Amino acid sequence: MTVTTCRLAVLISGAGSTMVNLAERIRGGEVPAEIALVVSSRASAAGVEKARTLGLETAVLSRKPFTRDGAFDEDAYARALADLLALARPDLVVLAGFMTRLGRAVLSRFQVINVHPALLPRFGGNGFYGHRVHEAVLAAGDKVTGATVHFSDLAYDTGPIILQEIVPVLAGDTPDTLATRVQAVERRIYPEAIRLFAEGRLVRDGDHVRILPEAGA
Ligand code: GAR
Repeated sequence: MTVTTCRLAVLISGAGSTMVNLAERIRGGEVPAEIALVVSSRASAAGVEKARTLGLETAVLSRKPFTRDGAFDEDAYARALADLLALARPDLVVLAGFMTRLGRAVLSRFQVINVHPALLPRFGGNGFYGHRVHEAVLAAGDKVTGATVHFSDLAYDTGPIILQEIVPVLAGDTPDTLATRVQAVERRIYPEAIRLFAEGRLVRDGDHVRILPEAGA
């Protein structure tokens, strides 16, 4: 199978550590891709500065102009986001801590991938992000948690699962200690899923994703 460089658009809202990790793995030759654009939903997100430092093209699409009387116009934001993304001609849109649900305008035009710090469908959806996920895992008394990479659909944290890896919950775990171990897994399986996509090895079949073997394997 020919490996071509896959163009990525990375969407962020916060610290941007997922984006930085991906950029490093690309530079290290682990992922045959290039980050064509980083879009942040917040101008003040620390990830914006990190992306600039890495020499990446960045854009900010704030939610504010799309919010009137406290009501956020999700469809108008999605249309603007889709138009912005189209300029970068991405093969894949990568969610990296992006805190806005994607509308039809984006999902009908682009393939979108997401990473979530739990074993979806457990502890996913609106309100489940960052530490809240790990707090909920500990409160439920679960013995295992993990990380999930999936293609996105219209809801939060749903869509066909690509890769999932278990992380055991240990006695004495706090949201911080759990987050550290789950994050280490995210850092590995998200670039891995993007590599599989870039190599043309992910086949979507309804709610399922089949992973094709490596060429020659
Ligand atoms: C990531 O760890 C990811 O698991 C989580 O946001 C973090 C972003 O951190 N995503 C979700 O919870 C999706 N529902 P970052 O801004 O440092 O990359």
